[in-house]
Amino acid sequence: MLAEKTIVITGVASGIGQRCAQIASEMGAKVFGIDVVKPETTIGTFIQGDLSSQAGVSSILEALPNNIDALCNVAGVSGTAGANITLAINFFGLKELSEGVALKMNAGGSIVNVASMAGYGWRENTERASGIANIAGFPDIDTVIKEFSIPEELGYPISKEVLLVWNKVASQQKQFKDKGIRINAVSPGPVETPILAQFRQVLGEEKASSDINKVGRAGTPEDIAPVIMFLCSDAAKWVNGNNISTDGGLEAATTVEKLHL
Ligand SMILES: NC(=O)c1ccc[n+]([C@@H]2O[C@H](COP(=O)([O-])OP(=O)(O)OC[C@H]3O[C@@H](n4cnc5c(N)ncnc54)[C@H](O)[C@@H]3O)[C@@H](O)[C@H]2O)c1
Repeated sequence: MLAEKTIVITGVASGIGQRCAQIASEMGAKVFGIDVVKPETTIGTFIQGDLSSQAGVSSILEALPNNIDALCNVAGVSGTAGANITLAINFFGLKELSEGVALKMNAGGSIVNVASMAGYGWRENTERASGIANIAGFPDIDTVIKEFSIPEELGYPISKEVLLVWNKVASQQKQFKDKGIRINAVSPGPVETPILAQFRQVLGEEKASSDINKVGRAGTPEDIAPVIMFLCSDAAKWVNGNNISTDGGLEAATTVEKLHL
């Protein structure tokens, strides 16, 4: 499904991104891995780069080749470092990279955004989420935080709400649509990676454990990466602007609970 494809993956030094790089390579893809941290084992070509600023994204784009078939936006941070850096990495850097990679992408390419169940509040916050999703370029994030009254501790869920809205908006934008580039998201529930310890800290042990108990266990990178790879492949060629909850049924369990069924 991925043989001979050129796939760019962010966040390859750890967790879900690392597993994506392994699977893509095993399936015959040429991998370009990006991370701010150097991975212990390099798969394909590694580009050390920082998604948290315009300059960081520009230097990553310069290092990338043309003829890219897919981009997996996996890198992300938990929110513990504050709203500014979280919005920078989880949304604005991701968007800038995607727009730049689209110019180097083959027709019929695919972009996959790793969002989160934590972003499902976008339906209740559409005005804020779409307002931020529609900002052009890499803005001064402190100004965005002020303008949209973003509380410091809500940087993570808001970054993922905005990402889920942008995921739909971008799938309809000329710069992607004219080249037949599909844009989709994968939203995990809790996954056993280094970031989970930070989520436990933010959410509290009780909430984190209750989510995990609803589906029997936390996910693993092995549960999430194949879904990302499917969306990169031609098997998903008629899937666009979509989001796949990849959470062992946690979203369904939460909805059923809310509906008192
Ligand atoms: N693990 C979970 O419970 C969970 C749940 C929902 C969503 N997610 C999302 O999955 C994605 C992957 O997370 P993970 O669980 O593999 O976590 P992880 O911490 O194992 O991996 C994240 C990777 O992103 C990289 N990264 C961080 N800042 C960067 C920057 N400025 N530039 C480039 N790379 C940077 C890190 O170095 C790391 O290798 C994230 O977007 C996260 O929000 C994770």
